[in-house]
Amino acid sequence: MTEALPFDERYIPSLNEYLQYYEKSLDDLEGFWDGNARQLKWYRYWDVVLDRSNPPFYKWFVGGETNINLNALDRWVGTSLENRVAYYWVGEDGSRRTISYRELFREVNRFSFVLKEFIGVGKGDTVTLYLPMIPELPISMLSIARIGAIHSVVFSGFSSAALAERIVDAESKVVVTADGFYRRGNIINLKERVDEAVAMARDRGVDVEKVIVVKRLDGNVKMHMNRDYWYHELMAEAPQKVYVPPEKMKSTDILFILYTSGTTGKPKGIMHSVGGYMTYIYNVFKWNWDPRPEDIYWCAADIGWITGHTYIVYGPLMHNMTSIMYEGAPDYPKPDIIWRIVEEYGVNTFYTSPTLLRLLRKYGDKWIENVDLSSLRILGTVGEPINPDVWKWYYEKIGRNACPIVDTWWQTETGAAMLSPAPGIALVPLKPGSATLPLPGIVADVIKEDGSRSEPGEKGYLVVKEPWPGMLMGIWGDPDRYINTYWSRFSDPEKGIWIYYPADYAVRDSDGYFWILGRADEVLKIAGHRIGTIELEDAIITHPAVSEAAVVGAPDPVKGELPIAVVTLKEGYTPSEELAEEIKETVRRVIGPIATPKKVVFVNKLPKTRSGKIMRRIIIAMLHDRPIGDTSTLEDPSAVEELKEAIESLKKSF
Ligand code: PRX
Repeated sequence: MTEALPFDERYIPSLNEYLQYYEKSLDDLEGFWDGNARQLKWYRYWDVVLDRSNPPFYKWFVGGETNINLNALDRWVGTSLENRVAYYWVGEDGSRRTISYRELFREVNRFSFVLKEFIGVGKGDTVTLYLPMIPELPISMLSIARIGAIHSVVFSGFSSAALAERIVDAESKVVVTADGFYRRGNIINLKERVDEAVAMARDRGVDVEKVIVVKRLDGNVKMHMNRDYWYHELMAEAPQKVYVPPEKMKSTDILFILYTSGTTGKPKGIMHSVGGYMTYIYNVFKWNWDPRPEDIYWCAADIGWITGHTYIVYGPLMHNMTSIMYEGAPDYPKPDIIWRIVEEYGVNTFYTSPTLLRLLRKYGDKWIENVDLSSLRILGTVGEPINPDVWKWYYEKIGRNACPIVDTWWQTETGAAMLSPAPGIALVPLKPGSATLPLPGIVADVIKEDGSRSEPGEKGYLVVKEPWPGMLMGIWGDPDRYINTYWSRFSDPEKGIWIYYPADYAVRDSDGYFWILGRADEVLKIAGHRIGTIELEDAIITHPAVSEAAVVGAPDPVKGELPIAVVTLKEGYTPSEELAEEIKETVRRVIGPIATPKKVVFVNKLPKTRSGKIMRRIIIAMLHDRPIGDTSTLEDPSAVEELKEAIESLKKSF
């Protein structure tokens, strides 16, 4: 393993200091979280820190009552901190908006009033948000949370079909969207997609009654009478200085649902709690970024993913931080747009994905030579393993050997980072490519198939052995799937052993550092986005020519991995370039552009077991030039020869 990096600028690493803090947190886990939760505002403190009576349905801060608005907004208003900027918003077209905490508070109160009084949203209702990166997205999230409803944010790059599926699953009667937004100079018409999704949802028995439309562009979209309302018109009708008291929510109520992919075709609605999520992310944010009052902070993710929920909306607001919120693409109009924004605002903390770093590095260092990046103090990364050479580029070129790289391992399900350096406590020595150590209160390990601990250097499965406050509450409408997906693999309920299984491979080195090696299930990480192979296959077989499809991930120098679709065609269809393009287009239409296969490979037969299961591992082995292993269960060995030829010629085309 790589040697620890010498690091002696603004943060002096001290493993011992960190480990002391970490170990103390485990001595009395519940006491530790109890103390941390008390740093926040609650209407009522809890009777029980952690209710373990019905595992794995753990409940945090039972009896406690709060509202995340108390800590993200109301806490700052009426104090000298209310005039701090909450968001510097940067539009792709060069437009700018500045929103202070006080202004955000006003907007949120008015929109809370609109939702409650004009639209009729009540406590426990779900509201789907399909919005681009504009301030109305955090405003909507906070307003929904304020009145005790549940938000379900759907990434604005998803298709109308994907949106419809999420509206139906969450049974949302209300959708908030925009007329459109800019992406690489093009106009994306969001409202049209919402209209399609609403029609699809209706066919599946869920009637969206109200659609609220934010005007981001010229407003030239079709509005349906008695269903569609302009956000700005509704807001104009609400009283200027209305105050809507934050609803008293139980700690165990649901704050939001966020859909993520799993190993079946149906996305999972991950549920996060009001009190547990709030407590966890407040503390982790502090440990990750060591926030200081004058900081300018930028998490360059999209709010449509968990990173944006935690690290653009709730985390920074609970710390009275000033955030950059950027609407556009990372390399438009030029590859230095990100660094220009860092320079313009004097960004101190910057958090992004390895994919973005690989993309910007590829453009060459000439794009960073003439920008002033000296304001940067801490750099973060998330979403996929970071290649050590990219890590070093980030550290040397962007961080000028002076900023710790905070590599954060976590998931939609975990609420916030779980493994990562914690400069807010004490920085540990860094190693390029390692997310270092578990955060306080997190009992993580790497174990083997039989449940025993992996030796140092031995690949195994990452697991978490104790509950933590930011953990998901379950899967919306599917408690069995919650147990089966996360708590079945290594748990032993008869012995009272419950182990959380995140489905990642990992290895620990002799210093106890964790190195994440990638997914251990049939989920791809495409540019850091999580997409299930079965979801992709389901999308592909909606094309009328396709009989069967097997999707695997192929390595990609920028996006980490990209899907390769191996398909068989129905009688009467012949392989062609056009057909391959049509299949790609089908995926774009059914899921969204992020999921587009890199290549479509046609074969006569897929490698399948006698019981009909597609053996993806054979395709993966061929792609990586690895031995294909045991093929004795293959239904038809001739499938392998044909496939081999097809994959070999595919590799030549990379
Ligand atoms: O495989 C791990 C990878 O991303 C997965 C979680 O994806 P998602 O729920 O979309 O959340 C992404 C943002 C938190 C994990 O199971 N992953 C996440 N962070 C890292 C990572 N892999 C390696 N290193 C990381 N820092």
